[in-house]
Amino acid sequence: MPETNYQPPNEAPPGPIRPVLKGQKALVTGASKGLGQAMAIGFAQAGADVLVNYHTDEEGARQTAKAIEACGRKAEVFQADVASEDDVSAMFHRMTDAFGRIDICAPNSGIQLNARVDEMTLAQWQRVIDVNLTGMFLCAREAIRAFKKQGIDRSVSYAMGKLIFMSSVHDIIPWEGHANYAAAKGGIMLLMKSLAQEVAHLRIRVNALSPGAIRTPMNVEKLTSPEVFERVLLKLIPAKRIGEPEDVARAAVWLASDESDYVNGVTIYIDGGMTLYPGFIGAG
Ligand code: BGC
Repeated sequence: MPETNYQPPNEAPPGPIRPVLKGQKALVTGASKGLGQAMAIGFAQAGADVLVNYHTDEEGARQTAKAIEACGRKAEVFQADVASEDDVSAMFHRMTDAFGRIDICAPNSGIQLNARVDEMTLAQWQRVIDVNLTGMFLCAREAIRAFKKQGIDRSVSYAMGKLIFMSSVHDIIPWEGHANYAAAKGGIMLLMKSLAQEVAHLRIRVNALSPGAIRTPMNVEKLTSPEVFERVLLKLIPAKRIGEPEDVARAAVWLASDESDYVNGVTIYIDGGMTLYPGFIGAG
């Protein structure tokens, strides 16, 4: 990560992650970097073994696996394109072969191919929808099938399974120049809620995380360009700090644990207040 003068130091994170996922098995897609990597490591810190999916960045996935193993947990690295039905099916087979079950599924893979709509190619539109939305559907479908097959094991969790979708503040904040991305994220919201409604009676919990600006490779521009960073930090984030991947990982661990057993069909915004219409501060 490049050094920058524009980032005020964040406060130290609030203590270690507690072992609330002991004995659980988690699958995280897009876990070679950014939020997926942080969630995979967070799950391991909380006691889970983790399948680390990546698409192109094998080296990043291996680093994630190393960090998981350093927590004393097992890691399985698996290459798959979440937009491919065959790849996703193969990934879930590997999950069963490696760990025998799945308790937590965190479909996280996401890309941006930005263009204004009148300049956007169909390929740009389609690829973002395929990875960011269809990928969620394909993983959720396999996860639900696996949860139902294995049933509830109360020694591991009260739930039959937990699904945690990675969304974005752009599931409710419109984003010009990123219509494909915002459409996919908006789609995740009602995919998540419809699915939660569909499977709640089975004790399968389905929720989403919607991060704002987090210090990940996707946001590197905001950390290196003072102009963009100042505009985002000062105008769009009431908390006046960029988020850390661990801010998201902690929420993921909580959603995956029985501590959130009565939480179903919600989106947790992890955004320093970005969704609070900060433009209204001192205005309106
Ligand atoms: C995007 C980031 C962006 C943030 C807030 C996220 O979904 O991935 O690039 O900074 O939303 O706009």
